[in-house]
Amino acid sequence: MENGRASTKPISQVTCTAPVNIAVIKYWGKRDEQLVLPINPSLSVTLSQDQLCTRTTVAASVDFKRDRIWLNGQEQSIDTPRLQKCLGEIRRLARKRKHEEERSGDLLGCCVHICSENNFPTAAGLASSAAGYACLVQSLARLFGIDGDVSHIARQGSGSACRSMYGGFVEWTMGRAEDGSDSVAKQVAPAEHWPELRVLVVVVNAGKKAVGSTEGMQTTVRTSALVAYRAEHVVPSRQDDMKRAVLDRDFQAFGEITMRDSNQFHATCLDTYPPIFYLNETSKQIIHLVHRYNRHHGKVKAAYTFDAGPNAVLYLLQDDVPEVLALLKHFFPANANNDSERTFVRGLPDVCRKDVSSDLLDSVGLEPSPGAVQYIIHTKAGQDPQVLTNPQQALLDENGWPKKQN
Ligand code: DP6
Repeated sequence: MENGRASTKPISQVTCTAPVNIAVIKYWGKRDEQLVLPINPSLSVTLSQDQLCTRTTVAASVDFKRDRIWLNGQEQSIDTPRLQKCLGEIRRLARKRKHEEERSGDLLGCCVHICSENNFPTAAGLASSAAGYACLVQSLARLFGIDGDVSHIARQGSGSACRSMYGGFVEWTMGRAEDGSDSVAKQVAPAEHWPELRVLVVVVNAGKKAVGSTEGMQTTVRTSALVAYRAEHVVPSRQDDMKRAVLDRDFQAFGEITMRDSNQFHATCLDTYPPIFYLNETSKQIIHLVHRYNRHHGKVKAAYTFDAGPNAVLYLLQDDVPEVLALLKHFFPANANNDSERTFVRGLPDVCRKDVSSDLLDSVGLEPSPGAVQYIIHTKAGQDPQVLTNPQQALLDENGWPKKQN
């Protein structure tokens, strides 16, 4: 029944959650637009789903007349090339397995309903496409009974999504095969490998939306000589150094490489013609704060990285969280009429009761900017996509229709 609530036939349904990931070696540029093959390898940290995640429910039924998708409570067109690519690849794999293993492929003739939500405000400009496509592909793979790595399918939804298919520290290899089958994500180390590592997502009050990643990187590849140099001469050895830093839990190396790589990515944006600016004044102030903080202590205690927007993501160790939060609150205090103290730092407990020495405040020496930071999410590394088995957590009802719509 197309829009009724009652169904006569049983439906199959799966609900998953998937994490956000933040790259410390950035992906910026494709060598194949169709297959989403990168010009350089990249490496990221998968963030805990307790603070940031996408939840998706997919259902298949012979009663459905067409494939449909609802995102954050609103129906969207399913006829986008990327969604079609992911659905098509999953069905192709399911057909292949059915043929090879003589499995029953009842669902192959069915249309699907997809319903997806983020547990964080989409307007915050946080990387949501990675978690979104990872969650979609994971849920569909489960629904159609596909096991094994499907990161090459998530990659075709959004490049960075392939890294959200694994937990902890994850690399995305360039691959050599023409069909892109070996350009996949692999875990370098699980989240438990480095339990002291913490992440502060500093959500900066932004103005107009910047250029999207897909379009931005196309223009960069077309016009920047620096990005070609970076891909050929910088990233390959940097990727190896970063893997070693992670495996050795060497924060000095991890932090320095993270900051250098973020800076070089933004330098390629500036080298794009016409140039692309993702960092704003607040982003630059945060960069100064981190460098001055590190200089004050004579070592790398915090590292920043920025994606295609002004929000900063800071990596640091657990013991330094109170001091860095206190500094951020001092120089970027919440706007009294906007954000209450209570919700300014969200996520893991705000341990910030530390008094910062006047020496350190002098070393940082910025002009305080009230309201420049909207809020901060305190989180850490986390796990790969998860399956939710409780039907109450599903976003579609027992007949495969959204439980709530805006
Ligand atoms: C700056 O994965 O969003 O966040 O493949 O075109 O969907 P498409 O791009 P996307 O690019 C992410 C770029 C980045 C760096 C990174 O995550 O590695």
